[in-house]
Amino acid sequence: MKICCIGAGYVGGPTMAMIAKQCPDIGVHVVDLNQPRIDAWNSDELPVYEPGLDEVVKEARGRNLRFSTMVDEGIAEADMIFIAVNTPTKTFGIGAGRAANLEFIEKCARQIARVSHGHKIVVEKSTLPVRTAEAVKRILESAGNGATFDVLSNPEFLAEGTAVKDLLNPDRVLIGGESAKAVDALAQVYGRWIPADRILTTNLWSSELSKLTANAFLAQRVSSINAISALCEATGADVDEVARAIGTDSRIGPKFLKASVGFGGSCFQKDILNLVYLCEHFGLREVAAYWEQVVNMNDYQKRRFAERIVKTMFNTVSDKLIGIWGFAFKKDTNDVRESAAIHVCRDLLRERARLRIYDPRVSADQVREELLGVMTDSNGILNEGDRKLLEKNVTIVKDAYAAAENAHAVAILTEWDEFRTADLSRVQASMQQPAFMFDGRNVINSAQAKAAGLDFHCIGRA
Ligand code: UDX
Ligand code: ADP
Repeated sequence: MKICCIGAGYVGGPTMAMIAKQCPDIGVHVVDLNQPRIDAWNSDELPVYEPGLDEVVKEARGRNLRFSTMVDEGIAEADMIFIAVNTPTKTFGIGAGRAANLEFIEKCARQIARVSHGHKIVVEKSTLPVRTAEAVKRILESAGNGATFDVLSNPEFLAEGTAVKDLLNPDRVLIGGESAKAVDALAQVYGRWIPADRILTTNLWSSELSKLTANAFLAQRVSSINAISALCEATGADVDEVARAIGTDSRIGPKFLKASVGFGGSCFQKDILNLVYLCEHFGLREVAAYWEQVVNMNDYQKRRFAERIVKTMFNTVSDKLIGIWGFAFKKDTNDVRESAAIHVCRDLLRERARLRIYDPRVSADQVREELLGVMTDSNGILNEGDRKLLEKNVTIVKDAYAAAENAHAVAILTEWDEFRTADLSRVQASMQQPAFMFDGRNVINSAQAKAAGLDFHCIGRA
């Protein structure tokens, strides 16, 4: 059996590496148009930072795992083709800002149709709006070169930063499809290392919708606790204590109740907006408004954090230096897509603050690219004021202490472990006085911060 995966990103790369590791007799070929990305997968510096991924790739690469830009060849040889390309939110035309841009999926389907002979199983791995499989099927079947296809939906539930763990030991694998034979073929691949009772099969549409729903529920928990964090700050309650208290109710459970500066990542916002668009399409206005509120609350939380910094620092941060600790959307990843840090930094820059940014895994280029993206308007125009701010007011450094030196404040935006154990007295002593610290992830022990002489503020505590 041969597998091809189109798309060597955060999903395609780790997932295929795990399949190749667990199934040495299956040839796995990951293809992508992006040559530098493929080169990185073939080097010692993988393009995706994931704890434990290096070992998995090293074990299988060169044995039965291959990365290349030979998309046509990869498709032609394979019995099973995974589509793991990006499906960003549309930025133009109908459904802009909500619907998924399916351009890349459709191009893949057309390419598969053009190159294929015989019978192939096509697996949707990317998160997609419900009923995309139908479109993919129609495109595949219209090729007219005699090839036949089964389309399966097999959404990915791995979380970044824990991808290897999640792939090795998933809560469940979901396979949606019409052909029992095709579903079984894919179930057998996962069955090599995942117990049969964790492999769920459904119809195509249930599988597609389950992915959107899972992410909407997870994001909803974060927005719910973040909403309560605002009330805690106003009343003197402590959001971490509230989370602990409600999390011990077995019906609620303790996970995904960590109040924060706001959720980020490539999935939550995109999938919810997708769900909202879908509901609107079917005339379900109340349902759409209900889910949209989860995203609105997240926007509020990010904005609120930046406003709190300004307010606390005597209502001005203009020309003040703020050290930013963390830029990734969560710890243990180099991914910055939709990171709350982007929005907080933009708001602070527009208050004319000077930012010195440190993240252990995110490159300076990535930081600049994201800030440029968020300050550019929908017509692609960056106004002169913002251009100057980006040029003059942003520095990127390679060390947390360097980011704090001479700063008026430090803002923690990602929960990297090294921030938890930072020497707070050293940080405080190197800063302008009074030295403010704003912990957007509640990673710092507030008693220790106060003992170190910091004017300390965190989420959900007055
Ligand atoms: C998510 C889903 O968890 C995963 O199943 C799906 O396949 C892709 O989307 P991911 O985006 O990688 O995964 O990260 P996740 O751990 O879910 O965190 C998302 C965001 O929520 C992060 O910014 C994180 O910091 C934030 N978060 C999470 C909180 O603020 N509080 C929490 O309690 C949990
Ligand atoms: P995800 O987080 O969903 O994995 P990424 O953006 O990290 O998303 O990865 C998607 C990858 O898919 C990118 O590397 C992109 O170059 C690749 N890609 C998009 N369209 C095609 C295509 N038609 N053929 C091959 N690769 C593609």
